[in-house]
Order: sequence, then structure tokens, then C-alpha cells
Amino acid sequence: MLNLILFGAPGSGKGTQSEKIIEKYGLVHLSTGDILRNEISNHTDLGLKAKAIMDKGELVSDEIVIGMIENKLESNKNAKGFIFDGFPRTVAQAEALDALMVSHKQTISIMVGLDVPKEELIDRLLKRGQESGRADDNLETIENRISVYQKQTSPVMSYYNEQKKLRLINGLGSIDDIFGRIVDVINKL
Ligand code: AP5
Repeated sequence: MLNLILFGAPGSGKGTQSEKIIEKYGLVHLSTGDILRNEISNHTDLGLKAKAIMDKGELVSDEIVIGMIENKLESNKNAKGFIFDGFPRTVAQAEALDALMVSHKQTISIMVGLDVPKEELIDRLLKRGQESGRADDNLETIENRISVYQKQTSPVMSYYNEQKKLRLINGLGSIDDIFGRIVDVINKL
């Protein structure tokens, strides 16, 4: 089984590359951002609470997102593997994910980190904001999302580096070139 964490700052290309990885390796996509946006479109209580937090660029509580991942693992017991996109985002989430993996007799195979400079992240997200109107793609929220990433999320890289699972790759260039770098890393497993 291949259980891959695709890691990186907002706008680093996690969602874009996840689609290509899923197509090639047949993994189940677990994106906490997509699950939360789905709750918002369905006007659930969770969606209502999450929207206020996401609009500010802050993180939804660990308890909520861990519960969401637990449900998805339970409902996909026959999966060939999982790609975690946007999760774990705190060390507490990483510890909970490791424990969930153990309880499912699984392990995280690898964390692929997409390294992209801040100016490029901002350019990409502002462009998407103009095209798609995603509510958190405005300059003020983007700046806060990046700052939250640096303070609360980047320590997750060290957590997996200590387990010798982190592979950091250059996240600049064409989508296909970056995908080629990810495939090289996966094929070395
Ligand atoms: P989430 O949905 O995870 O968003 P994010 O991390 O801010 O990431 P993005 O989706 O904006 O970027 P991405 O890295 O996926 O890049 P993408 O491929 O889309 O989280 C949103 C919010 O939900 C959080 O702020 C938080 O509030 C909450 N949340 C989610 N998970 C949580 C958790 N675990 N714990 C707590 N709270 C959580 O690409 C971005 C743009 O760039 C696209 O337009 C794309 O077309 C373009 N692009 C991609 N690759 C390239 C390239 N190579 N060259 C040029 N443009 C490119």
C-alpha cells in the first residue's frame, strides 16, 4: 500500500499534483480542505463553523479534522492507498494520523514536500482568486494562511524528517515537470 502525504504551503500545488498522482497510482484522495468546502456548500453546522475560520485563514480545530480523516479511512477500507492533501497541518494531527495508521495496520510511506517561494504562492493564489472567486484567495487572507503555515504547519516537516520520510522537491516549473519529480521520488520507494 502507498500512503503518501503531499505537503506544502497554500498554493504550492498540492491539489493540482494530487489529481495526477491519483490518476497514475489509483489512490484515494483525502483533502481536508475539499471536505470542509463540501460541508460549507451543504450548509451543515460544521460548514457554518468552518467557514468563519477558513475565511480568516486560520486552522479548523484538530479534533474536527482528525475525526473527518478517521471517517474517511473507515469508509475506504479496500483502498490501494491514500493521498493526504492539506493534512496533517499540526504536529498533533501528525501524531493522530500515525496512531490511526497503526490501528489500521498501515504506515505512512512518504511525505513529499513542495518547495515554492512566497512570492510565487501569492501570485498563484491571487490569480486563482480572480478566476474562481475562492473566498480565502484574497491578499489579506493569503498572507495569514502563509503565516499560519510557517508557524503551525511547517513543524510537521521536521516530524516526518525525523522518521526519514520527508522528500523535499522543487515546486517551481511546469505542472508536468513537477509531477515527474514526484514520480521519481515515489519510484525510489
Ligand atoms: P486547503 O484547501 O488545504 O488549502 P491550502 O492549503 O490553502 O491550499 P490550496 O488549495 O490553496 O493550494 P494547493 O497547495 O492545493 O495548490 P493548488 O494545486 O490548489 O485549506 C483551506 C483552509 O481549510 C485552511 O486555510 C484551513 O482553514 C482549513 N483546513 C484545511 N485542512 C485543514 C487541516 N488539516 N487542519 C485545520 N484546518 C484545515 O494550486 C493553487 C493555484 O496554483 C491553482 O490555481 C493552480 O492552478 C496553480 N498552480 C498549481 N501548480 C502550478 C504551477 N506549477 N505553476 C503555476 N501555477 C500552478
